[in-house]
Amino acid sequence: RTPVRVALLGCGVVGSQVANLLLEQSPDLGARVGAPLQLVGVAVRDLTRPRDGVPAELLTDDAEALVDTADIVVELMGGIEPARGLILRALARGASVVTANKQLLAEQGPVLFEAADAARADLSFEAAVAGAIPIVRPVRESLAGDQVNRVLGIVNGTTNYVLDEMTTQGMDLDDAVKRAQELGYAEADPTADVDGFDAAAKAAILASLAFHTRVSIHQVAREGIRGITSDDVDWARRTGYVLKLLAIAERTGEGVAARVHPALVPTDHPLAAVRGAFNAVFVEAEGAGPLMFYGQGAGGRPTASAVLGDVVSAARDRLIGGKGPQESAYASLPVLPSDAA
Ligand code: HSE
Repeated sequence: RTPVRVALLGCGVVGSQVANLLLEQSPDLGARVGAPLQLVGVAVRDLTRPRDGVPAELLTDDAEALVDTADIVVELMGGIEPARGLILRALARGASVVTANKQLLAEQGPVLFEAADAARADLSFEAAVAGAIPIVRPVRESLAGDQVNRVLGIVNGTTNYVLDEMTTQGMDLDDAVKRAQELGYAEADPTADVDGFDAAAKAAILASLAFHTRVSIHQVAREGIRGITSDDVDWARRTGYVLKLLAIAERTGEGVAARVHPALVPTDHPLAAVRGAFNAVFVEAEGAGPLMFYGQGAGGRPTASAVLGDVVSAARDRLIGGKGPQESAYASLPVLPSDAA
């Protein structure tokens, strides 16, 4: 079958992982789609910077020309422009768009969704909230027939890691942030993590999906962890609590309210056990009751997993209406007899 052409915009911590995985796992991914997935190019700002295993011939600094050749555009540049313009360009051509750009979604979601609707094109963004954790699709699709009342959780890996290091290693905030940057958890500008902007963007996205409305980041009350000291962390520990940065969105009598702030969580609460760059999200729905989602919320490889899931899904949608390939496509993996289990 004709290959599905995938263009990648951005080649940072997540982008380089996605590029390498698309190249290495191309046969397997193609089998799951039912047609080859071909990485046609990777747009970067600086062509001279080495890009960790991505062949130089795939790199280009002409993002617009690259967008114009692709069936699926994967935007991992972050920030508002040029990401916004390139996504709108891709959607206008009828290309499917996969993005992890929480800032753009939380500030200008309506513009993107309207463009996707107008072009009847796919816009998916599982990686924009809580890294590897499947949370966008469950809230957007699986719970679409229910009434969600509350979404609450830890949605920023960097601050969770920082608070954790302050609690368990006695590190100070700045050193722990540096370590989070080295580990690939932090945003390009870690202020977005420390001051709660990243968590607020994710709260806005989750609230929009959960309550079928449009919540912008500017409507989320926000307090980050910048003012927190080792003394605060110590005091919390001695009194039976841990400090966590929580994102909360809920349906109230009057409407939807969303906020991000540090909170004292009792040590025996499940959120207290969320360590390092892990995230956890609780969703409370009328019919489903309480649901809990947990996993790695930051880092190149976990986030790339969510991006690739969206790419496979978008490719299937384009080819066969989202149903996936016929059974024969899986025949390469032997199934062991029951007595081998
Ligand atoms: N900087 C973000 C975090 C990355 O720490 O959670 C994932 O969105």
